Amino acid sequence: MAATVLTVIPYDHEKHGAAQVRFLGEAFDAEKVAARKRVLDYMFAAMPGRDRTPLRHVIMDGDRVAASMGHLPVDFLIKGEAKAVRFTHDLLVDPRYRGKGLAKRIVENSLRHGDFLPGGMWMNEACYKIHLASGFTDMPSLVTQTLVLDTEAFAERKEMSGLKGAVARATLDVVRARALRSAAAGCEAARGVRAKPVDRFDPAMDGAWLELLKGYGLARIRDAAWLNWKYIDHPNLDYRGLVAEKNGNIAGYLIWRKAPASDPEKRAVVVDFLVEHGDARTLKCLLAPVIVEAAEAKMAVLSILTTQPWAIKLLRTIGFFPRGARHWWVMGGWRGVIPDGWASDPGAWHVCMGDSDGDIWTYP
Ligand SMILES: CC(C)(COP(=O)(O)OP(=O)(O)OC[C@H]1O[C@@H](n2cnc3c(N)ncnc32)[C@H](O)[C@@H]1OP(=O)(O)O)[C@@H](O)C(=O)NCCC(=O)NCCS
Repeated sequence: MAATVLTVIPYDHEKHGAAQVRFLGEAFDAEKVAARKRVLDYMFAAMPGRDRTPLRHVIMDGDRVAASMGHLPVDFLIKGEAKAVRFTHDLLVDPRYRGKGLAKRIVENSLRHGDFLPGGMWMNEACYKIHLASGFTDMPSLVTQTLVLDTEAFAERKEMSGLKGAVARATLDVVRARALRSAAAGCEAARGVRAKPVDRFDPAMDGAWLELLKGYGLARIRDAAWLNWKYIDHPNLDYRGLVAEKNGNIAGYLIWRKAPASDPEKRAVVVDFLVEHGDARTLKCLLAPVIVEAAEAKMAVLSILTTQPWAIKLLRTIGFFPRGARHWWVMGGWRGVIPDGWASDPGAWHVCMGDSDGDIWTYP
């Protein structure tokens, strides 16, 4: 097989789409291929920034895709200024072509484009190593915070030794559950914060999100177009949005989902949130009804990822603990774009679980 001389080319969804689906079929079962195809089509039909081609690169061997990687366009706010950036994501090599350097070649190619590639983080160890070997910078790994909502279901699935202490401290016991329920009900009276469900995000709130983002050093720009595309209209998953008002002003939002029915772990996840930097009060008022609803829906755990020390502090007081699900975090093309000190300081970033491609390939 002459795989070593094959070159990386931009992916054209019309031209290469059918070959890409056949390629997915070499690695995944039919159900997963169908779910992935829905997301891929949805990306090319409706993703904000989809005109910033190429959205993906492939290595073709005749009419066969041998390797493929996405090049996801998003906008970041860096020191208050908007910048177009990309996430590398969804790296896959046809099993027949593995071990020949194709993955490395396609990752190196994205660095050559000269984009700022701020932190691929939904990657496994192989992908992480390939990014480092291709010239990406290693960043501190990001830690998911987990709250146990149902100790029995959790204990059934987990090796409890070593985790026992943490679980005992973190379990959503009756007392804490009652406190959260009253926090959810009492936020408005006690804190002037009202968290209400929204069917979709209204572009009229985009200015408020931009103002809140300015309090962070680096953050993906959130607006209604992106939030509705990424979460609310997702073809496979059922996300819910909440918007918080504090004394009548827009003060934040949170997006979460319950576990899909097929998830044996029953893990609910908060994929995104935004409040003013340091506003633990509003974040708590957004989280409280989510915790109550997730517990009522018999979710075993609720997970959230944040880089913000003040948010982690709040999560610890509620009973979340750092556990498992290490997110490798690497970055490319960043020198001269962000200060050196920021690269290794998670507190300079506002990163959530839904960043990069996030949860996008999960399917029910
Ligand atoms: C991981 C994957 C993309 C590697 O593709 P590949 O073309 O075989 O990788 P390459 O030949 O370019 O290898 C590049 C380097 O990574 C290393 N590497 C490759 N697969 C690896 C693995 N599974 N674990 C650890 N290192 C690995 C290679 O040893 C090589 O290192 P070297 O340059 O020091 O020799 C491929 O196995 C795959 O598609 N796996 C399933 C999907 C997947 O895991 N994708 C990542 C999702 S985040």
